[in-house]
Amino acid sequence: MEVPRTVTAALEDRPVPGARCLEAGAGVGNTTAGLLDAGASAVYAVTNDREHAATTRERVSADGRRETDVADRLAAVEADLRAIPLSDASVDLITAHGLCNVLDPAALSAVADEFRRVAAPGCHLVVDDYDPLPEDAGVRELFAMENAASEMASGGPALTFYPASFLRRFFAGDGWQFDRERTLLEPVPWTTSHLSAHAQEVTSFAAECADDVGRSLTTRADQLATEIGTESAGRMYSLAFRLPE
Ligand SMILES: C[S@@+](CC[C@H](N)C(=O)[O-])C[C@H]1O[C@@H](n2cnc3c(N)ncnc32)[C@H](O)[C@@H]1O
Repeated sequence: MEVPRTVTAALEDRPVPGARCLEAGAGVGNTTAGLLDAGASAVYAVTNDREHAATTRERVSADGRRETDVADRLAAVEADLRAIPLSDASVDLITAHGLCNVLDPAALSAVADEFRRVAAPGCHLVVDDYDPLPEDAGVRELFAMENAASEMASGGPALTFYPASFLRRFFAGDGWQFDRERTLLEPVPWTTSHLSAHAQEVTSFAAECADDVGRSLTTRADQLATEIGTESAGRMYSLAFRLPE
C-alpha cells in the first residue's frame, strides 16, 4: 500500500500501533492505508460515498503481502458521520484527513458531536486540512465557482476552508486538549487532475441549476481549469489533540 507523505507525516508522532481507529471520511483510502501500515489493531473507515468505501476496501486488499491480516483489521463502512455506527467510547484514535473542508459548519458541528461520543477516554484526534487560499491564488476562483454551483443546486457550499486556528479553537472548545500543529504541505501543489476533478464537480452541480446559470458556471470553471493548469498555493496543516483520560 503506497501511503502519501502527508499521511505518514501526520501519523508519525501518534500512537497508532494497537489502536482502534476511526478514519472519518475514507475518500480514496490514503489514511486507512497509513493506519493499517502503522499497526492499527482495527480501522473503521467511514464514508457516505459507496464508491469510496469500495475503493478503500480494494486498495488495501490489493496489497498481496498482508491481504488476510488487513482484511481482518479493516471495516470500510458506508454511513453518515453525523450518525456514526459505532458504540460510545469505542475508539482510541480518530483521523479526519481532508474531511473538514467538505463539511459546512452545521455538518462539522454534528460530526464533532459524534467524535466526542465514540472517543474513549484518552482518545487521540488528528485533523489535517487546508488553510483558506491566498487572495491571489487562481484556484480560489475555481473553488468559488464550485461553491456557487453547489449553493444553487443544494443550498450549501461544497467546500469550506477552515483556518488551522479556527479548528484548533473549535475542537478545544469541545474538550479536546491541543497537542501540536505541523505543516504538511506549503505551498500545496494543485495538479491538473485536481483542477479538472473540481471543474467536473461544477458541471455536476450545474446540471441541477437553471440552464443559463449552470452553463455559465460550467464554462467559467472549465476555462479556469485550463488557464491555471497547475498551481502551488496555500498550506495543508495537521492538528493533533487528545481527550483527558
Ligand atoms: C477528501 S475525502 C477524505 C480523504 C481521505 N481521508 C484519505 O485519507 O484518503 C472526503 C471524504 O469524506 C466523505 N464525507 C463527506 N461528508 C461526509 C459525511 N457527512 N459522512 C460520511 N462521509 C462524508 C466523502 O464522501 C469522502 O469520502
